[in-house]
Order: sequence, then C-alpha cells, then structure tokens
Amino acid sequence: MKIRTLLFALACSLAVSPVVRAADAETELGGKMEKMSSAFRVIRRQINDASKNADTLTKLAVVKGNAEASLKFEPALKSEKPKGDQAKFVEEYQAGMKKFVELCGKLEAALKKGDNTEAAKICGAMGDAQKAGHKEFKKDDKKKK
Ligand code: HEM
Repeated sequence: MKIRTLLFALACSLAVSPVVRAADAETELGGKMEKMSSAFRVIRRQINDASKNADTLTKLAVVKGNAEASLKFEPALKSEKPKGDQAKFVEEYQAGMKKFVELCGKLEAALKKGDNTEAAKICGAMGDAQKAGHKEFKKDDKKKK
C-alpha cells in the first residue's frame, strides 16, 4: 500500500514538473531563453572536451533554434521605453540576437572541424553576448537570473 502511494506521488511530481518549469518564464521570449539556458550550461561545461563534440553540437542546435525563434519576439522592456524610441530598441535587440545566431554558426563550424580551442573562444564570446544582451534588453527585475 505504501509503495503504491509512493509511486503515485512520484508519477504526480513527474507529470507536474514540466508545467511548473514552463510557468517559470513570464513571457514567450523568456520561455525560449530558458531552453537556451539549460543547453548552454552543458555546452560551457564540456566545450574543451573533444570527445563530447557530438553531444555539444546537439545542445548547440537547441541554443541556435531558440535564438532564431527569439528574433520573432520583442523584449518586455520595450513597453518601458518612450514611444519614439521603441522601434529603434526592437531593431537593436534583433541586431544583437542576429549576431548571437551568427556566433552559434561559428561555434558549429569549429566543433565540426574538431577545433576545440577555437570553439572555447567562441563559447566565451557567446557568454559575453548574453551578458551584453541582458544588460541592454532585459528588464531590471530579471537581470539577476
Ligand atoms: C547563451 C545565451 C543566452 C542565455 C543562456 C540566456 C538566458 C536567459 C534567461 C534564463 C532569461 C530569463 C528568462 C525568464 O525566465 O524570463 C533571459 C531573458 C532575456 N534574455 Fe537572454 N539569454 C541569452 C542570450 C540573450 C541575448 C543574446 C539577448 C539579446 C540580444 C537576450 C535577451 C533577453 C531578454 C530581452 C530577456 C527578457 C525576456 C523578455 O523580455 O520577455 N538573451 N535570457
């Protein structure tokens, strides 16, 4: 009886957890970012390990795909900008995101060549682009994430 209760509780938690995780992101763009975040964490951890390049490429596809999808959304911070500055703000965000997508392409090429020294450099540049993008385009209350 106890085991059945335990299994039931486990099944419930497994069923509920993706919903809870999806609800963490407050915007659709935030949802794309969350997906990038977990994949990028793995990439960073194993970028120097050439034996993991195939897996790194799989994770990179997740980052790149979600970065491309992010181009279709506008940052929530836009609504806090004066009306006259909003179009420029969105254009700058899109330019930043496009540059990030380009870095994903460069990382893909380096990994396919098996050049992990170059790959690590590009990975660092992606981390810098993340920081810069958040500084400029992300609302204050989310900057700590
Ligand atoms: C490795 C690259 C990146 C990672 C791992 C990442 C991760 C994240 C995470 C975890 C959030 C919080 C999501 C939430 O729960 O709301 C976020 C939000 C955000 N990020 Fe990124 N990010 C990356 C790159 C970028 C770049 C390059 C830009 C802009 C050019 C950007 C712009 C934003 C914006 C605007 C938000 C706030 C979402 C909104 O306004 O709806 N991020 N990001």
